[in-house]
Amino acid sequence: MRALTWHGPRDVRVDTVPDPTIQEPTDAIVRITSSGICGSDLHLYEVLGPFMGEGDILGHEPMGIVEAVGSGVTNLQPGDRVVMPFQISCGSCLMCDQGLQTQCETTQVRDQGMGAMLYGYTKLYGEVPGAQAEYLRVLHADYNPIKVPEGPPDDRFVYLSDVLPTAWQAVEYADIPDGGTVVVLGAGPIGDMASRIAAHRGHRVITVDLVPERLDRVRRFGAETIDIREHNSDELGDVIRDLTDGRGPNSVIDAVGMEAHGSPMAKAAHAMTRMLPGKVAEKMMQTGGVDRLASLHSAVDIVRRGGTISIIGVYGGAADPMPMLTMFDKQVQLRMGQANVRRWVDDILPLLTDEDPLGVDTFASHRMPLEEGPHGYEIFQKKQDEACKIVLQP
Ligand SMILES: NC(=O)c1ccc[n+]([C@@H]2O[C@H](COP(=O)([O-])OP(=O)(O)OC[C@H]3O[C@@H](n4cnc5c(N)ncnc54)[C@H](O)[C@@H]3O)[C@@H](O)[C@H]2O)c1
Ligand SMILES: [Zn+2]
Ligand SMILES: [Zn+2]
Repeated sequence: MRALTWHGPRDVRVDTVPDPTIQEPTDAIVRITSSGICGSDLHLYEVLGPFMGEGDILGHEPMGIVEAVGSGVTNLQPGDRVVMPFQISCGSCLMCDQGLQTQCETTQVRDQGMGAMLYGYTKLYGEVPGAQAEYLRVLHADYNPIKVPEGPPDDRFVYLSDVLPTAWQAVEYADIPDGGTVVVLGAGPIGDMASRIAAHRGHRVITVDLVPERLDRVRRFGAETIDIREHNSDELGDVIRDLTDGRGPNSVIDAVGMEAHGSPMAKAAHAMTRMLPGKVAEKMMQTGGVDRLASLHSAVDIVRRGGTISIIGVYGGAADPMPMLTMFDKQVQLRMGQANVRRWVDDILPLLTDEDPLGVDTFASHRMPLEEGPHGYEIFQKKQDEACKIVLQP
């Protein structure tokens, strides 16, 4: 089959690789019809490169048609239309029972000290072949795949794999009170969808980014916007306090993560992960106290005293310096983590209707064949050609 594979920083290619096969009774093989490129893939494209292996298949936002199932899968049959959560969980352990599928005790990557396995996401998460490919071996297919109806286009459902539950969890964890205000840092796919969800719930939403067409998108769904290029980097907190009775918003969602603009060291981290030998770069990414935290530092500054910060952007270091003095003094509530996809699906499905209140049918800025995947990565990273969300169609 054809698959999008990793060969080095900013070097992804579409190669011919062996077709996946059923290896466990709980496996299924799915023919992929749509597969998103995620902001998380951009970390692999560059700063998390040290954790990748040459030839690893990327991708974790797939949907498609079941081709074959193992003997232990009784809830699916060939021909079913399914979306796969980006994480792999068992559905029956202590963690899964609590809706913490990202911490699944059956699929935790214990030798790396990490949570549940993810598709196409580095050695840290099990080096499981990913879904930007013609076919995917689905693990624990007796639990993970979300069956969706025939009829509506793939766009209606594909974001159940990641964008929708991730944005939903970001809003849930933000704990915005009725009549409250949330600031969303970042208007990439995750910040955009989180802004739409929070606005749909009736909250006041202020979304911050530096890419004008991304800010245009969220404005159409009811958010106010701030373009950080119009302000000095230390001004943002004051600008937002001025808009919020001097107190700051009840909640802040950090949907940027470790590759924030305005973080000089992030640039250095990019350059160094390309230059250093693998092992050294790996260590640096895990423990280096480099300042990748521009967005999180703004969140701490912006949030009202006693307010909540919900971190949904991915952070990578183990020794990043945090402004503990201010966080403690402001009595900040902090929640974070990968999204527990299955936990939120039943809450989201009622919104995926023809009325399309969240605008999923028109969410993709680009749809392209798998063969054009490398171009997709490039324009998404460089934010060229108004690329906001790219869906590959193998
Ligand atoms: N927790 C999860 O389960 C989960 C799932 C998917 C994605 N993510 C993470 O969410 C983050 C966003 O992903 P995405 O798909 O939206 O990708 P993205 O990279 O397109 O979005 C990031 C956005 O932040 C903006 N930005 C950069 N610096 C900023 C700053 N200082 N202030 C405000 N905005 C700034 C960028 O212009 C961009 O629009 C990434 O870190 C990604 O890894 C987490
Ligand atoms: Zn993703
Ligand atoms: Zn489990």
